[in-house]
Amino acid sequence: MNPPANITDPLVLFMPSGKRGRFPVGTTVLDAARQLGVYVESVCGGRATCGRCQVEVQEGNFAKHKIVSSNDHISALGAKEQRYAAVRNLMEGRRLSCSATIQGDLVIDVPQDTVVNAQTIRKAATDRIIERNPAVQLCYVEVDEPDMHKPLGDLDRLKVMLEKDWGWQDLLVSQHLLPQVQGILRKGGWSVTAAIHRDLDSSRPTIISLSPGLKNEAYGIACDIGSTTIAMHLVSLLSGRILATSGTSNPQIRFGEDLMSRVSYVMMNPDGREAMTRAVRDAVNELTAKVCDESGVDRNDILDAVFVCNPIMHHLFLGIDPTELGQAPFALAVSGAVHTWASEINLKINTGARVYMLPCIAGHVGADAAGATLSEGPYRQDKMMLLVDVGTNAEIVLGNRSRVVAASSPTGPAFEGAEISSGQRAAPGAIERVRIDPETLEPKYRVIGSEKWSDEAGFDEAVQATGVTGICGSAIIEVVAEMYLSGVISEDGVVDGSLAARSPRIVQNGRTWSYLLRDGEPRITITQNDVRAIQLAKAALYAGIKLLMEKQGVETVDMIRFAGAFGSFIDPKYAMVLGLIPDCALDEVKAVGNAAGTGALMALLNRDYRREIEKEVAGIEKIETALEPHFQQLFIDAMALPNKVDPFPKLSAAVKLPPRKTVSAEGVAGDTAPRRRGREGHAARRARD
Ligand code: FES
Repeated sequence: MNPPANITDPLVLFMPSGKRGRFPVGTTVLDAARQLGVYVESVCGGRATCGRCQVEVQEGNFAKHKIVSSNDHISALGAKEQRYAAVRNLMEGRRLSCSATIQGDLVIDVPQDTVVNAQTIRKAATDRIIERNPAVQLCYVEVDEPDMHKPLGDLDRLKVMLEKDWGWQDLLVSQHLLPQVQGILRKGGWSVTAAIHRDLDSSRPTIISLSPGLKNEAYGIACDIGSTTIAMHLVSLLSGRILATSGTSNPQIRFGEDLMSRVSYVMMNPDGREAMTRAVRDAVNELTAKVCDESGVDRNDILDAVFVCNPIMHHLFLGIDPTELGQAPFALAVSGAVHTWASEINLKINTGARVYMLPCIAGHVGADAAGATLSEGPYRQDKMMLLVDVGTNAEIVLGNRSRVVAASSPTGPAFEGAEISSGQRAAPGAIERVRIDPETLEPKYRVIGSEKWSDEAGFDEAVQATGVTGICGSAIIEVVAEMYLSGVISEDGVVDGSLAARSPRIVQNGRTWSYLLRDGEPRITITQNDVRAIQLAKAALYAGIKLLMEKQGVETVDMIRFAGAFGSFIDPKYAMVLGLIPDCALDEVKAVGNAAGTGALMALLNRDYRREIEKEVAGIEKIETALEPHFQQLFIDAMALPNKVDPFPKLSAAVKLPPRKTVSAEGVAGDTAPRRRGREGHAARRARD
């Protein structure tokens, strides 16, 4: 026990947490960290054998903190550290915090291996560090050998040591360990490493795994189960390092492309729920095997798992019938966070491993939206942040420090290329970028797998391997926006047939007109129906966003974050020209990649984040768009490009929007007129309301 600190004691600051305190000379750095609640891993309990407690001294004058930190202010390398360094190669500058003692003012860096590239696609990525405080801790102990005169059981003597060395009291033991405990203790020569799980501070800690001797590795998986894809990180719980990241498609697609068709499948087929549960669990098990293979990790060393998913995937994965989610009032069987055992849901990882699922926000806004919310943290901002995950069902969160609201919008699969005549999923050969010359109406495009534009020399050779196969979601956004900017379509989305006199790109298609993007094999046109499908999808999303803005009482948002794979490929400018998102400074619109998966990772590595998101989700106001009478009018206004009534002043400053043009449904152009001013539009709408 250290004596209490006083004002003249050395001041120690831990980074990156920023926690600081005064400690008597001679206190170990590990003790100081513990007293401040700074998480520093330790498996061997200070025996200087595991090497998990490493820290670094930051040298220099930290004027802001009034600390001059130097390696002279920490004890010299002691015998235990020297022994560890000789055997295990302690990197220069690193110290074992269980051995090194405080001798003066110090700034101590606790190395964090978890650096998440939150933005997986765009170059201007902001790496983030996730501080660790996992729910599973490895604790090495040396247990007394059995003694005929003290008939305390092997397990009981193990518990005694776990309390003595580590302070664990009132330990539960996973039942599957009882038949193994004697064998493990004897195999380890009475030394053993126990994996202790404790998530909630109020819950009893549990021994979930035992390994003979010193076990110095424990892993976890963070998994995002999407309707189309399943993405997984395999992470060291001890260092926080991500060892592998991989994905696979969700095999439930064979039961139905979108969520509602999967609910229908359950309703129509007696064993439908079981089949889908089995399919998704099998896929998760296969993906686990894959990330383990890639990183040489034994799946039995995976001790914790965190999942995020939309509500229907959440229910199916847990084996819950999702039928109630298919109809109002969209009742979730469970909305709070779920704590369970991996073995209960047939996951092939360590038998004692635990599973945590983030809470769902509402019947249509799932644990994946909660994960994205945790990752991007609208509730940590003063600014009004819009967080959008575009999928067949877009999940929308809007808020700041004082209030957060959430909703989902049924955008349908058009953004993923379905319902579009030449649409396809993003894959090599798919057109991903489109530009249209406003003078000649000639297009140029780029396909996935090649950097060349179609009008550049060498394009044909560059795409020889993949061909040009169709048009994917990001390009559908671009082509419709470019058609609007070049005057091919009116603000109401009607293709202007009168332009056929000017360009062979405008081709008749029955009673309507189409834009010929590519002549050849395959011939790719953007038909009137394609434009309509995009308008319907974007209007649904925008109307949902507007409802949330109205709930918040704001006319603009300060920042927009696109989560999900699709968001990573959308050019914010085109998304705004289309009126998919509200007006915002373009440099405040960012793609954040798989934010739901990042949220799962945060919850895996630090149980404090679990409490944080549970508390936040409880406070998020849920808006059911289908029940809002105003939704219909917002939807109709949002059918226009970018919008019938809302102004886009920031967009207009960055992009020259075309003058208003009316075109009849048959594609006959009428007058052009200046764009209606936003304020007039608002006034008109208010008058109507
Ligand atoms: Fe194991 Fe320091 S706690 S080496």
